[in-house]
Amino acid sequence: YHAHPVEVHHHKHPDFKSLQELPDSYAWTHQPDHARPIGTDSNFASVPVIDLYDRNASKLIGHACMTWGAFQVVNHGVPISLLDHIQGVGQALFSLSTHQKLKAARSPDGVTGYGLARISSFFPKLMWSEGFTILGSPFEQFQKLWPQDYAKYCDIVVEYDETMKKVAGKLMGLMLESLGISKEDLKWACPNKGPLFKDTCGALQLNSYPSCPDPDRAMGLAPHTDSTLLTILYQNNISGLQVHRESTGWVTVPPVPGALVINIGDLLHIMSNGLYPSVLHRVLVNRSKQRFSVAYLYGPPSNVEICPHEKLVGPSRPALYRPVTWNEYLGTKAKHFDKALSSFQLCA
Ligand code: SIN
Ligand code: FE2
Repeated sequence: YHAHPVEVHHHKHPDFKSLQELPDSYAWTHQPDHARPIGTDSNFASVPVIDLYDRNASKLIGHACMTWGAFQVVNHGVPISLLDHIQGVGQALFSLSTHQKLKAARSPDGVTGYGLARISSFFPKLMWSEGFTILGSPFEQFQKLWPQDYAKYCDIVVEYDETMKKVAGKLMGLMLESLGISKEDLKWACPNKGPLFKDTCGALQLNSYPSCPDPDRAMGLAPHTDSTLLTILYQNNISGLQVHRESTGWVTVPPVPGALVINIGDLLHIMSNGLYPSVLHRVLVNRSKQRFSVAYLYGPPSNVEICPHEKLVGPSRPALYRPVTWNEYLGTKAKHFDKALSSFQLCA
C-alpha cells in the first residue's frame, strides 16, 4: 500500500518517491484514448519543426498555427548551454526534500513559488507533477531553498527570462506577419519606441513529472489551453507532452534536441479572431523516467486590451470576442473552466 495517503491528500504536496502504488486521488478514470502508449504514434503526422533561418518561416508558422496551434522551432538563437542550465535549476530544485521545497511554497494569493500545477483546483483528481512558478524576481523564494548558493540559480533564471522575452517578441512578429498584420498595426508593440514588445509580461513555470508506478491511470498535467498570447516550452529528452487535434486526437510532441515547442494561447486565438486556435494539450507520465519542462508564459502588458485585430474583422467575419485585458481574461476563464474545456472553446 502507498505510504501516506491521508497526508498526501491533506497537504497536497506529496513525496512522489514514497508512493509505490497510485493513490485513488491520482487515478483518472475517464481517459478515452489514454491507453494508447505514448511514443507509438510516430507514424502519424506530428507538429511541424520550423527552422527560424528559413526565409519562409513566417508562412510556415502561419500554416502550423492554423492547422496545429503548435510547432517546434530550431535555430531560435537560444544557446544549448542556457537550456542545459535552466534544466539544471529544475533538477536542483525538484530533487530537494519535500520539506525544503515547501519552505518556498506558493502562498494562496501569490504566484511565485513551489506547488501543484496551477490548474489543479479545476479538476477532481490530482496530477502526477510538481511545479515552481516565477513571476518577476526569484530571489526571495530561491533564498529559502538554497540559503548558500541561491545567487547562481537566480542569475540563470534572469538570463533565461530575458532570452525568452526576445524569442517571444521575434515569434510574435512572425505570427503577426503571417496574419498580414505589421508591427505598426499594433499600438502596444511600440515599434518606434525602443525594442519591440518590450513591455510585455512573462512568467516562468518549471515542471517536474516524476516516474509513476501506474502511468496508464495517472495524468501529469490535465488537458488545458494556455491563457497566454503564446507559450515557449523547453522539454527535456523524455516525451509526455501531447497536443489535441480534432482530426487525429492526441498526438505526442516528440522531444527534438535543442528545439523549443511553441503553443498558441487563448489571447492570440482572440487576437486572430479565431484564425489561430489555442491548442489543447496535456502531459502523460511514464514508469521509469522523470520528465522536466520549463514554460515561458508570454502575454501583453497588463493595461492592454486584447481584441480581434481590426484587419481580421469585416462584414463577412464579425469579431468573435470582446476586448479583454490579460487579467480579466484569467478571471473569466477561471469562472468558466468546465465550459471552456468541454466545448474546447473560449468564453471571451
Ligand atoms: C504546460 O502545459 O504548461 C507544460 C507542458 C509540458 O510540461 O510539456
Ligand atoms: Fe500549458
